[in-house]
Amino acid sequence: MRVLITGGAGFIGSHIVDRLLANGDEVLVVDDLSTGKAANLDPRAELVQLDMGSARLIEVARDFAPDAISHVAAQASVAVSMTDPVRDANTNIVAGLNVYKAGLEAGVKQFVYITTGGALYGTPDYLPCDEKHPIRPESAYGLSKWTLEQYLKILLPPEIPLKVLRLANIYGPRQDPYGEAGVISIFAARMIAEEPVYIFGDGEQTRDFVYVGDVARAHGLALRSDESLTVNISSETPLSVNALFELMAEETGYPHEAIHQEERRGDIKHSVLANGRARAVLGWEPQTAMSDGLRATLDWVRGS
Ligand SMILES: NC(=O)c1ccc[n+]([C@@H]2O[C@H](COP(=O)([O-])OP(=O)(O)OC[C@H]3O[C@@H](n4cnc5c(N)ncnc54)[C@H](O)[C@@H]3O)[C@@H](O)[C@H]2O)c1
Repeated sequence: MRVLITGGAGFIGSHIVDRLLANGDEVLVVDDLSTGKAANLDPRAELVQLDMGSARLIEVARDFAPDAISHVAAQASVAVSMTDPVRDANTNIVAGLNVYKAGLEAGVKQFVYITTGGALYGTPDYLPCDEKHPIRPESAYGLSKWTLEQYLKILLPPEIPLKVLRLANIYGPRQDPYGEAGVISIFAARMIAEEPVYIFGDGEQTRDFVYVGDVARAHGLALRSDESLTVNISSETPLSVNALFELMAEETGYPHEAIHQEERRGDIKHSVLANGRARAVLGWEPQTAMSDGLRATLDWVRGS
């Protein structure tokens, strides 16, 4: 299959690319390298460094003639979305619509959209949140990602199936350890360097962590399904930030206590997503044990 992937040089996108190449698919990556890195990419993947919002995308897509578009690129920072909502909306909504348009003009047969589950449902009415939970984003990022999902559902003709993967908290190698998100990478870098580790609030907030390789596998399954689908990709297993700290401190031999700071605005206390639909529709389940995923992440942080 020929797959044009936006954001393929980023954290999640590059793992999706690896999996596609391993499967024998032909891959064209469109990425402006704003947060992604060419070094994340397998050299067999062709990279076009381009803002996906630019008019040239249509020509690039027509020339490559993909069977599928996987739209992974985004302004993926909640903090940036709150301080610069115009930039967030321009990337996540307007440029996303340009990707849709390019796909349509290039005659794609399907469209995959990687989006957030964690920032979509808001403060939960019940846990774990399934796909029918009310959508109540509490950040501009959650709103922009949701808006494009709705646009795609309205705009795509029925003969072009739309596969929406709503991700929980993803972790693994290549996640930026110096950003404001990606708690596992941040803890890993700080513990390895024996620097102070900060926890926002009391640390009893829970998150649902999925290893990035499991996301790439879910993407591959979605690509090979014939139908439109909207599924959470999650572990369905809550882990508190304190418990995560303990696990990682043990694994790294980190000798210090965590330092607790004030809670962050917009942080949801408990986030756990149901994955029953992904199991039923895709035959997917998370396969990477937390201990293995943590070790792979720590090894990568040590080597980078
Ligand atoms: N990391 C997570 O835990 C998580 C959770 C839920 C959803 N997601 C979603 O997964 C996707 C990938 O996120 P990530 O964590 O890998 O972040 P990332 O920042 O590593 O990847 C985003 C990629 O998009 C590229 N990009 C951004 N704007 C672009 C533009 N205008 N034109 C072309 N390329 C552009 C960046 O250079 C980068 O390579 C995003 O859609 C994000 O919303 C991530």
